[in-house]
Amino acid sequence: MCGIVGYIGELQAAPVLLDGLEKLEYRGYDSAGMAVFDGQDIHIVKSSGRLKVLRELTEEGALLPGTMGIGHTRWATHGSPTDVNAHPHFNKDDSIAVVHNGIIENYLKLKKKLEKKGYEFISETDTEVIAHLLDYYYNGDPLDTITKIMHRMEGSYALGIMFKDHPEEIYAVRKDSPLIVGQSEEGNFIASDVPAILKYTRDVYFLENEEVVKLKKDSLGFFNIDGETIEKEVTTVDWDMSAAEKGGYEYFMLKEIYEQPKAVRDTINPRLKENRIEIEELNMTDEEIREIKKIYLIGCGSAYHTAMTAKYVFEGLARIPVEVDLASEFRYRNPIFEENSLAVVVSQSGETADTLAALREAKEHGVRTLGIINVVGSSIAREADSVMYTWAGPEIAVATTKAYSTQLIAHYLLAMKFAYVKGKLDDGQLADMISQLKALPEQIEELLSNKERIQRLANRYLATEHVFFIGRGIDYAISLEGSLKLKEISYIHSEAYAAGELKHGTISLIEENTLVTAVITQEELYKKTISNVQEVKTRGAFILAVTNEDNTEVEKTVDYVIYLPKTNQYFTNSLAIIPLQLFGYYVSLGKGLDVDKPRNLAKSVTVE
Ligand code: AGP
Repeated sequence: MCGIVGYIGELQAAPVLLDGLEKLEYRGYDSAGMAVFDGQDIHIVKSSGRLKVLRELTEEGALLPGTMGIGHTRWATHGSPTDVNAHPHFNKDDSIAVVHNGIIENYLKLKKKLEKKGYEFISETDTEVIAHLLDYYYNGDPLDTITKIMHRMEGSYALGIMFKDHPEEIYAVRKDSPLIVGQSEEGNFIASDVPAILKYTRDVYFLENEEVVKLKKDSLGFFNIDGETIEKEVTTVDWDMSAAEKGGYEYFMLKEIYEQPKAVRDTINPRLKENRIEIEELNMTDEEIREIKKIYLIGCGSAYHTAMTAKYVFEGLARIPVEVDLASEFRYRNPIFEENSLAVVVSQSGETADTLAALREAKEHGVRTLGIINVVGSSIAREADSVMYTWAGPEIAVATTKAYSTQLIAHYLLAMKFAYVKGKLDDGQLADMISQLKALPEQIEELLSNKERIQRLANRYLATEHVFFIGRGIDYAISLEGSLKLKEISYIHSEAYAAGELKHGTISLIEENTLVTAVITQEELYKKTISNVQEVKTRGAFILAVTNEDNTEVEKTVDYVIYLPKTNQYFTNSLAIIPLQLFGYYVSLGKGLDVDKPRNLAKSVTVE
């Protein structure tokens, strides 16, 4: 998604903005720009392409002198990624500059009104409408002007705004798009996310929806939509800088793949007390847990895939009916909510617009909500009734790996806790599962030590055009994630299928040497899946099997086997995903692609 950075203080602003925007590159973008006030005027430099272009155009910021500025990386929504559509945008006399993350849904209506009043537009963006709307309502008082446009805009926005006749102030406001405020000795900041300002400060304020902030170089003022002053608490973020750096790895994605043992351990340990599972942040008594009659699991992309896995785990262990939804579908399908339900929304960023909207839909119907979230203080984390954080640390690569793995762990812990409280697991069974859970980090490490074997296999498929992933039950859920990992970073078409479903149509696509990856970890389904493997094998497919180390029988049928250490049947996705992540990574690497920032993708999709 778009990235916003703003700075006002003692330092030259442009280098600070460039530095901050670089830390936001992982969000995905296709153009970038800055506006800096030089004491007389606001100057804008912007261009399509990577930040490198902006650095060259401004000679690392030297050609944009001044100590107050706003910067932006744009992930195009309205209008193609051209210089003209890049942010910041000016009003008609260059006295107001604005950057924006989000979508103004009624921008065309506003644009028509402004055109009737003589305003001319040079870009295709909704953001330029904001610049002229500010101009139209501007009465010399920035706060009053901003609150006026807030009442007229529909949709999502995080805005950074400068007014030429208020050269000591930057303003910012948000609704449904993330924005934080940073405070330091050297000045004050706005940013879309913590990594952008971590180099300068750890003291941040999380803006709530429809809150406005006025930054001066040595003070901050917070206001509500009515322009009334409000008080806000500062939060000190404890991310270390290295966590947001590559640490010697070629790509963040590989670093984050290798951080999975630690991330899994860090997510398990705070919830284990001797041989019991304690999830205090759930804020639910055992009685309240026993009353749960239905669980809704909701997310997007990989988060949704963890929900697919979790359905089998919750229903298998706790015997609670589970409904799994894509957030973008859930919010519009007029869902039927049952009494005594729990809606669990899963999101790494905690800012995904569809997932945030699904959370609100559930809350509006009085359903108790729980967020499984990785980013502390994110919008979903703040709006859910309870939050179960995944302690994966900052995840920079667009393709999620460690956050995905820790989301699985969160689901397992919840399902085991619910099963135990409901009497579906006794002390001994729970103790066994806990010891299997605690063994996962080491088993992941063991799989990671085989990366060269995966790399060699991946290098044989750089030119392949189609790959299929099949599995039954939990193995189908992990096939979805394995397929997405390959697609999103190698641009190879891939599909995941329930193994039993392939013969109902898609098997017609299988040709000589088509790569089919069969995940076969559910013992009671071994034979069924093998028969599906034989169906594609007879049609020429090359079969890569990912299976348990004791299932050597498969070698009679498949062409290549990756064995997984033995674990509980409900935990196998946590192991099967490792070779699938590495496979996708090495195919992308072998194709010379930008593994961390795949084309068209953003790390957090804060628009619909
Ligand atoms: C996963 O690799 C993708 N980057 C994407 O599918 C992601 O999982 C999805 O956009 C949800 O993001 P969230 O977890 O931050 O809500």
